[in-house]
Amino acid sequence: MFSEGLCGYVRHMTANTRSAKQGILADKNKAKREEILKLLTKAYWMEMETVMSYTAGSINPDGVRAQEIIESLKGDIQEELGHAHQFASRIKELYGVVPGSKDFKAEQTYLQPPKEQTDIVSIIKGVIEAETGAIEHYNKVIEVTDQIDPVTQDMVIAILRDEEGHRRLFEGFLREYEIEGLA
Ligand SMILES: [Fe+2]
Ligand SMILES: [Fe+2]
Repeated sequence: MFSEGLCGYVRHMTANTRSAKQGILADKNKAKREEILKLLTKAYWMEMETVMSYTAGSINPDGVRAQEIIESLKGDIQEELGHAHQFASRIKELYGVVPGSKDFKAEQTYLQPPKEQTDIVSIIKGVIEAETGAIEHYNKVIEVTDQIDPVTQDMVIAILRDEEGHRRLFEGFLREYEIEGLA
């Protein structure tokens, strides 16, 4: 009796499994979904590399003036890791697979440790470059998802705001060095 009931339940579940007819999960939007998945995967890697670069940047610097940058980057690391998680979750929701580490290709040449660990300006400029790259990429994602994937768009708009905040903060740091003729 129980097993018949269970089979009936399974058949029922199967019969009710169908694709969404509308929105980004719809079969007809598969190509668009693939395009968005590519962008999300790139975003995921950008965030992961930023976590690595900011970890180094929050540990390596020497000197009294380095402390502000160190503290600031420590906070950012947690935010960037949170972004990476959000991108990964969205990849899965769109029927993608979060890639393994063997697919990773480093791109942040501008955020390698400087020769002198008191060279704070090079870190500040590297952070501004990384944030600018993220801002540009996320604006593109917002454009591509417009009218077709509001959930991804909404998520990326919130992340974009964080990146604009990070960039603005480090622009302020750089200004201080510029005024003193050190940058
Ligand atoms: Fe981020
Ligand atoms: Fe950021």
